[in-house]
Amino acid sequence: MKSLATYSAYLENALQQAHFPTQPANLYDPLRYFLQLGGKRMRPMLSLMACKMTGSAFEKALPAALAVEYFHNFSLIHDDIMDAAPIRRGQATVHERWNANIAILSGDVLLVKAYEQLTKYDSNTFHALFNVFNKTAIEVCEGQQMDMDFELRNEVSEAEYLEMIRLKTSVLLGCALQMGGLVGGASQKDAALLYSFGEELGLAFQIQDDILDLYGDTAQVGKQVGGDVLANKKTLLSISAKKAADNTQLQTLAALEQLQDPLLKVEKTKELYTALGARHYCEEQMKAHHQKALAALSRIEIDGSKSELEELAEFLFARTH
Ligand code: IPE
Ligand code: IPE
Ligand code: MG
Ligand code: MG
Ligand code: MG
Repeated sequence: MKSLATYSAYLENALQQAHFPTQPANLYDPLRYFLQLGGKRMRPMLSLMACKMTGSAFEKALPAALAVEYFHNFSLIHDDIMDAAPIRRGQATVHERWNANIAILSGDVLLVKAYEQLTKYDSNTFHALFNVFNKTAIEVCEGQQMDMDFELRNEVSEAEYLEMIRLKTSVLLGCALQMGGLVGGASQKDAALLYSFGEELGLAFQIQDDILDLYGDTAQVGKQVGGDVLANKKTLLSISAKKAADNTQLQTLAALEQLQDPLLKVEKTKELYTALGARHYCEEQMKAHHQKALAALSRIEIDGSKSELEELAEFLFARTH
């Protein structure tokens, strides 16, 4: 069994070897900047591990893994514009450091670079990967649009929220795993189970992301804490808090949404969410999806060891960033 650190070092090295032109500097500098900021590299790791689980060399999945990581970084550069986020991975976001137009265009190039990686496979594999990737890319955009639409709505149900995060976050984890499995030669059935593992893992991951957005420590999270509250995002925290609130507390929540002072708004909202048991509820839901993910993993019929994917799931479960 390889350690997470081994995979992570392998991926960092591969990412460093990727050469981008130097000119125009305002197109390529932001890409290099963003990719070098690090990140957990969890999605490409999922691809490598899924491939290895099938009995193939994990290196075979490198282009698929890079495709997923490039796509993820593209989506983050654009997401930070949409969310007006000032900080990412502890540093200024691309639109803050350069500007929004530059962030749009450099993100676009990264998306093309993602597709370019897929052409490294033979035509049968390419077609199989291309289909999964296209479907996923469109779904991520659908999820992102729902996320923004929900900011303007008062009522969003838990089911609608779950569908939104399945699209914006889970499907890419599923895609990373399925592509790794396909490259390694997994059966259709096992590739589908790998996808289900990713879907559940992604739901747990995004619920935790929502918790960290409010309860995390800026220095560790590397993002602006309270950003979701400031943008009136519909998260499982906000939905479950509203559900538990009595009439007076509902009025307080509504008043807090209008509050102009950002620090006060985040602090007071956090206090009320905690008092309403929202944090506890989200942690329970996160655990439930984590368990469902492990159950899907255990149903995979491949003989190969599942311990690496289990270890990655545990690492994500315990994360603070
Ligand atoms: C952030 O993903 C976007 C979400 C889907 C919540 P990560 O938390 O995996 O970001 P990095 O790549 O590690 O920075
Ligand atoms: C981002 O969700 C999902 C995608 C980028 C597709 P968030 O907006 O919650 O991610 P963070 O918190 O900015 O990383
Ligand atoms: Mg967002
Ligand atoms: Mg965001
Ligand atoms: Mg978030």
